[in-house]
Amino acid sequence: MRRRYGVIAAIVLLLVFGGLFYQGMKGRETEHKRSIRIGVTLYRGDDSFINTIRANLEEQAKEYEKETGIKVVMEIVDAKGNQNTQDSQVDRFISLGYDAICVNIVDRSMASNIISKAMEADLPVVFFNREPVEEDMRRWEKLYYVGENAKESAVLQGNILVDAYKKDPSSLDFNGDGKVSYALLEGENSHQDSLIRTEWSIQTLKDGGVPLEKITGGMANWDRSQASAWMEQWILDYPDQLEVVICNNDDMALGAADALERNGYKRPVKIVGIDGTPQGLEGLRSGKIFGTVQCDNREYASVIFKIAAAASLSQDVQKEVPLYDGKYYECSQKAVHAD
Ligand code: GAL
Repeated sequence: MRRRYGVIAAIVLLLVFGGLFYQGMKGRETEHKRSIRIGVTLYRGDDSFINTIRANLEEQAKEYEKETGIKVVMEIVDAKGNQNTQDSQVDRFISLGYDAICVNIVDRSMASNIISKAMEADLPVVFFNREPVEEDMRRWEKLYYVGENAKESAVLQGNILVDAYKKDPSSLDFNGDGKVSYALLEGENSHQDSLIRTEWSIQTLKDGGVPLEKITGGMANWDRSQASAWMEQWILDYPDQLEVVICNNDDMALGAADALERNGYKRPVKIVGIDGTPQGLEGLRSGKIFGTVQCDNREYASVIFKIAAAASLSQDVQKEVPLYDGKYYECSQKAVHAD
């Protein structure tokens, strides 16, 4: 009997000390980790807004190294719009033993593959800008998403035009027919931001009492030259009708303005975008576009980086960044426009 107690006591002691030793080692590992390795994959490296985030991420990594003395190895790769390429990039990050990855997913409905592999490798994932579906995001606690509230961007954009109309209806309805005739340039049809921005920009104008008439619209995939091609066509099809062009982002707004400029178009068409990229803000200053919604892209990149760094060091991410539902962060935005 006594012998059995002895064996049980020995097992208990082994478990307790074993556990303490493991915790101690783990703590020391975190404490002594002097470098972190983060892999970043972009849906398309030639997207202006994504490029601004990329540049800011690189800045953040440098600042973090200076502040903490922890070395950061950050590899940024371009998936060039191909989900298979992106999946292979993630496989490579896993095989290289990276500590965390940041994924700007090509196809937001195809995140489950990356998530399964990350879970298997215990590799935290910070998705950004292109939001995986909720069902996927719920699969694991080490999945995060950083983006903007698309409805907020759209309401801010719509209100730029509502305010202009209230101040002077003829600034938008310049042919004085009692209607503001508009064209709409949309991003990708599968992108959450595109769908919500379109819906709420128009709704905001209606709620603000602007009498609207849609003349035409097109999908330009966030792209300046595609938007420009649409606008070239519309100048021919509706030579005297367009008064406002509402665009889901700045690059498309600039593309529309390029076409007007190229054709020597004289009517004071008002063009609005979203993003507040350096090119968009420059377009605003030079009068090419009338307004945009600027997202704080320094904050955007800093949050992506902070989450990835904290997760790499097995720190409590919530202590570093206030997340809602334990995984989501929305960046702040503001409207900017010409007077
Ligand atoms: C949007 C942004 C676009 C484009 C797109 C890519 O949020 O406004 O300019 O970058 O993301 O996913």
